Amino acid sequence: MKFFIDTANLSQIKEAQAMGILDGVTTNPSLMAKEGIKGEANILKHYVDICGLVTGDVSAEVLSTDFDGIVREGEALAKLHKQIVVKVPMIKEGVKAIKYFSNKGIKTNCTLVFSAGQALLAAKAGATYVSPFIGRLDDVSTDGFILIEDIRTIYDTYGYKTQILAASIRHPMHIVNCAKLGADVATCPLSAIMALLNHPLTDTGLAKFLEDAKK
Ligand code: G3P
Repeated sequence: MKFFIDTANLSQIKEAQAMGILDGVTTNPSLMAKEGIKGEANILKHYVDICGLVTGDVSAEVLSTDFDGIVREGEALAKLHKQIVVKVPMIKEGVKAIKYFSNKGIKTNCTLVFSAGQALLAAKAGATYVSPFIGRLDDVSTDGFILIEDIRTIYDTYGYKTQILAASIRHPMHIVNCAKLGADVATCPLSAIMALLNHPLTDTGLAKFLEDAKK
């Protein structure tokens, strides 16, 4: 399974990249705002800066909700850097735009996906990635893992190449369960990636080895 980091924070991207386990980055307008990145020029520069830190795909989200606007913004984003993936919301105009981008060879990430039907539409339109939001389904007492399982079944049944990018990941068991269910990618906050490292038996075992080594 590929690991993406879900942040626009350059230090966190560098930290995950330095571990050697990072395959890409996803951002969204909320994550950009969290870093205080404002204004079109600054936002575009920030995407280029992120591309300079990693070797994999970097999702950059459009703000338009009409077909022409999504296409205009998406083409400008795709021209910024070869690693840019245009992130498009799961709405009718977005599906049309994903089909357009797919025909042009521009990579897309269909975001805000909460149902298997939405994921099927994204795949039919030719999305490179589909982003089911696991944590936000948890927030409304709905099982996001069933969604991952359903999308995997549909994509495998029909041979869709769209990659399942599990998003809205909040903790390590989200990552592990998505891996067990065959998600192609998990995009995670740095805290969830780092939490994968932790086990008390590792800590006590290491302490004992180091103590015994002194004997
Ligand atoms: O990739 C989408 C993700 O950033 C949403 O996460 O925690 O805001 O639901 P969250």
